[in-house]
Amino acid sequence: MIMILAANWKMHITPTEARRFGERFLARIGPRPGRRLVFFPSAVALEATALGFRERSDISVGAQDVYWEPKGAFTGAISAPLVAGAGATAALVGHSERRHVFGETEEDTHRKVRAVLDAGLTPFLCVGETLEQREREETEPVVLTQLEAATARLSRAELARLVLAYEPVWAIGTGRTATPSDAAQVHRVLRERLVARGGDGVPILYGGSVNPGNTAALLGEWELDGVLVGGASLDPDTWSQVIEAADQVRPS
Ligand code: PGA
Repeated sequence: MIMILAANWKMHITPTEARRFGERFLARIGPRPGRRLVFFPSAVALEATALGFRERSDISVGAQDVYWEPKGAFTGAISAPLVAGAGATAALVGHSERRHVFGETEEDTHRKVRAVLDAGLTPFLCVGETLEQREREETEPVVLTQLEAATARLSRAELARLVLAYEPVWAIGTGRTATPSDAAQVHRVLRERLVARGGDGVPILYGGSVNPGNTAALLGEWELDGVLVGGASLDPDTWSQVIEAADQVRPS
């Protein structure tokens, strides 16, 4: 399976900063067979980021969020066709900050997956349990429910176009990560469900306080097909260190 290393820039990095990031990053990290890199800048920096990486077929760019309607009178909203026009080939859906800060429901997440697929983009669907759910030992039912709700009524061919990210809410931006073996266990449960539904080849990434120091241990677990990284992706040198650590543990 291909390894995917994805950077979620959240509400950081202007278009000018994205251009500078691209220059520094490209000077340090070359393409590598079997490894794909994805950047999720803010909507305003999408085009600048996509242009900065246009010479590199191993690098793609995605949106952090889209509204589910394709167009219309929805002031302030951004649709999947609009981000595609700015150079996006993917979009995050159901990130925990969308669910918990902006109150997105399972139904919203489902509509967004549908809209992203309909626009020809790759949905990066995020699932993950809160600390309370983990302490109540509900992790597995919670992530499976999120997966089922978001992908209900998709055909096998549509499901096969997804990338899944397991991101425990308590690990995001907190400096706490799941242990590699705990993460691998959740990945196995998600994989089993995907396989049962015909999504055998769907990559499953881990996210939550990934940094240059813990990347090798996490990717030492073969159930992890890559990582989705927030804080440690904001600086080109730190992000390059994550990629170099991943390359060491998964030589092409
Ligand atoms: P973090 O964020 O790496 O800063 O924990 C990960 C994410 O939210 O995707």
